[in-house]
Amino acid sequence: MMEDWRQALNGDPLPWLLEPDPHNPGVRYLALRELSSLPADDPEVLEARAAIMRTGPVPAILDAQYPAGYWVKPGSGYSPKYRSTVWQIMFLAELGADPADERVRRGCEYLLSHGIAVNGAFSALQRPVPAGAIHCLNGNLLSALLRLGYAGDPRVQAALDWQARAITGEGGVHYYRSGTSGPGFACAANGGLPCGWGAVKAMKALAAVPPHVRTPAMQWAVEAGAAFLLSRDPAVADYPYVERVSSTWFKFGFPLSYWSDVLEVTAVLVDLGYGHDPQLTPALRLILGKQDERGRWRLENSLNGKMWADVEQKRQPSKWVTLRALRVLKGRIRDQGPGTRDQEPNRSRRTTSGGTTGSGTRDQGSGTQPLPPDNSPAAQRDQGLEKLGENQESEWMSQADATMTPEAVLALLKGRRSIRRYRPDPVPDEMVEQLLEAGRWAPSASNRQPWAFIVVRDEAIRREVAKHAAYYFIRWAQVEEAPLLIVLCGDARNRIYRQFLHEDVGLAGSQIMLQAKALGLGTCWIGGLDRKAVAGILRVPDTMDIVGLLTVGFPAEDPEPRDRKPLAEIVHYDVYGNRQKGGAVTPGRLPGGWLGRLLRRLRFNIRP
Ligand SMILES: Cc1cc2nc3c(=O)[nH]c(=O)nc-3n(C[C@H](O)[C@H](O)[C@H](O)COP(=O)(O)O)c2cc1C
Repeated sequence: MMEDWRQALNGDPLPWLLEPDPHNPGVRYLALRELSSLPADDPEVLEARAAIMRTGPVPAILDAQYPAGYWVKPGSGYSPKYRSTVWQIMFLAELGADPADERVRRGCEYLLSHGIAVNGAFSALQRPVPAGAIHCLNGNLLSALLRLGYAGDPRVQAALDWQARAITGEGGVHYYRSGTSGPGFACAANGGLPCGWGAVKAMKALAAVPPHVRTPAMQWAVEAGAAFLLSRDPAVADYPYVERVSSTWFKFGFPLSYWSDVLEVTAVLVDLGYGHDPQLTPALRLILGKQDERGRWRLENSLNGKMWADVEQKRQPSKWVTLRALRVLKGRIRDQGPGTRDQEPNRSRRTTSGGTTGSGTRDQGSGTQPLPPDNSPAAQRDQGLEKLGENQESEWMSQADATMTPEAVLALLKGRRSIRRYRPDPVPDEMVEQLLEAGRWAPSASNRQPWAFIVVRDEAIRREVAKHAAYYFIRWAQVEEAPLLIVLCGDARNRIYRQFLHEDVGLAGSQIMLQAKALGLGTCWIGGLDRKAVAGILRVPDTMDIVGLLTVGFPAEDPEPRDRKPLAEIVHYDVYGNRQKGGAVTPGRLPGGWLGRLLRRLRFNIRP
């Protein structure tokens, strides 16, 4: 019987992938391991791996290696592209080379001792200096080294740590105009904007670290990265760009280098546990739509003529691309078999909006809509997609638990600090949107949502506001320095609801601050304000109160956590003053006379 993940296919390409192939023996090995799930010590698997080292691109690459371990020339090995050291390590890992092979290890050792800058990250510059550290290179090399068995190497751990901190902005990472230029994937190679390719490669590396061994910094980085990748439709891939969306996103290839494609971003999100996020549905449709009538994918992009060996023929059905596509389909249904996470008891129901995607993503046509009863290839494909989405809700619950662990949430809450020094870099629009989105979802009395958020970017207006962000003789320097202010206002017209205004708007502000933290941004709530003056500058009408102001930007400081009072000092049990958990207590007396007691008896229950 066909396994579920193959039902979205027009044909069964597995026999094709499993056949011995001297040109690409790695496909058979990886298909046996990852699609047929055979154990590493299965005799067939061992023979398939040995074949990789005998024929095809792997021996061609190893033949070009210098005895010292590098390719082309000594040094960090970024250039010349596709023939020097860093690319060979990536290709060897992707092609399934044997990590125990002495030449493979020599190459990895050379890279680890010549390619890493003092900040712990891999550098793209010939002399490995921190200014050359970029997410795409670091992520690509880390995922290669993790595949090649270097997970326990302290240099790999340090590079992972840099990757995570460079994403979140935590822990004193230095940014450089020429390389990784700010948190949230900002990179000089993408004009200083957050880079989609860099994000995919960084997440590919972090996805290869099992969740239970990820540090809190890695977990935050995973959440920030997934939020960033899902902030756009991966099938459109309009991540921030300088001139246009690169066409390489839509041409499936093998092997990839610093660029990415829709298949890779989808694979990474699937590996991170977001395979059932409805935001991925168009990407899955795009992927399935590219298969031929036999369930195979073509090679649309290649490095033929540029690397030490050509891998496959362009425009022809590609075993490697097909393998990549099948990994995605299979990955989506992992953990759905009996005895897996879905069966754990007492799970509360969660929705995608509780995670990382923006509003509207839930409405984008998930795999659960009914499809016409027609047998055309397109309909069959879509029905396959339906099947893959069958367990969407229950699966999502476990995804949410896997990624939004209580520990991760608490770590986010504890890790937030008021940031009072900012870098001048502007906050990208898509991040601002996410902040406002987080504020919009705050609870409010009777869901009246009395807030209005004024996003102040204009420098002249910010300067004016900054003059009045003061308390007696103190002026808050951060208001002038921050590239973005969000002024939090509340509608004060309703006499009854006015009493809740500060709670409502305060909660929205808190959500914005936490979302900012998750995005690697810093914030500071400014309460010391001349509200009248600020209202005048911002043309806020009399009917609106200014509740607070948030400074927002990429942090230029990493302050130590401030103390909090111990729980013993602030917690009372059942009644005020009782510090003992458990034990008998009696309620206090109701205030008011007989009229108050009578009126209280006239109350009735509602659920607004
Ligand atoms: C209602 C409110 C008003 C605040 N006003 C200011 C302010 O005017 N200026 C300032 O620098 N920080 C201000 N803060 C930030 C607090 O000083 C800060 O949250 C507190 O010291 C705890 O530090 P942490 O946020 O780093 O944990 C304010 C915070 C709140 C919640």
